[in-house]
Amino acid sequence: MSGRKGGGGSASGRGGLHERVKTARRRTASSTRWLQRQLNDPYVRRAQAEGYRSRAAYKLIELDDKFGFLKKARAVVDLGITPGGWSQVVRKANPRARVAGIDLLACEPIEGVAILEMDFMDDAAPDALIEALGSAPDLVISDMAANTVGHPQTDHLRTIALAETAADFAVQTLLPGGAFVAKVFAGGADRELLMLLKQNFTSVKHAKPPASRKGSPELYVIAQGFKGRGDTAPEHDEGE
Ligand SMILES: C[S@@+](CC[C@H](N)C(=O)[O-])C[C@H]1O[C@@H](n2cnc3c(N)ncnc32)[C@H](O)[C@@H]1O
Repeated sequence: MSGRKGGGGSASGRGGLHERVKTARRRTASSTRWLQRQLNDPYVRRAQAEGYRSRAAYKLIELDDKFGFLKKARAVVDLGITPGGWSQVVRKANPRARVAGIDLLACEPIEGVAILEMDFMDDAAPDALIEALGSAPDLVISDMAANTVGHPQTDHLRTIALAETAADFAVQTLLPGGAFVAKVFAGGADRELLMLLKQNFTSVKHAKPPASRKGSPELYVIAQGFKGRGDTAPEHDEGE
């Protein structure tokens, strides 16, 4: 996927000076720390230089470099699309891919991407996504994270609930051979989610891409080779 890596080189190999942020009178200590981290984050700089809307884009690029699920994706659902970095990566890796994304928050338009501003947990969301995509997906990606409330156990449970609902959606809609990639939290997919994925996919792996901050409990589960539901047509032809 070298085409999508611009001249920025390795994000972590940036030269240059460490920027210090002066504590403005109205800025809290935690927002000063956040700003300082942003200004000194090589992935933030690289995203700006390469035109990606989020540093999260590099997590998908790194996961794809390792697992290779983007090249053959033709119809992709992006759960938690905003601000749009992952969909940009999908379209860059595969300009013929159709994408439908959903988020609670508005997302600026991206060519070739249908965007729904809606809660994925809403009962109407699955049908709305398939209608917007125009077909069953062959790849479902989810970077959804619940708004953290500062209570690690609650945050973990809420993000796992999102990942489980995303996995159910993938199992209900994917074409045979399809793939599912989702953010989970430390410890990986919980037992129930892992069981569902192992029953339905030939390969289930966990990975923490280098772009995922070391201190963050975030981890990704990558499930490939969807076995199908017995009622689905075969996977797209490569030449389609
Ligand atoms: C880490 S961001 C996604 C970043 C994105 N992958 C990118 O590269 O730009 C997580 C997103 O999940 C969304 N989200 C959280 N819960 C959601 C829900 N129930 N339905 C839809 N989106 C949700 C949030 O609004 C947030 O925009």
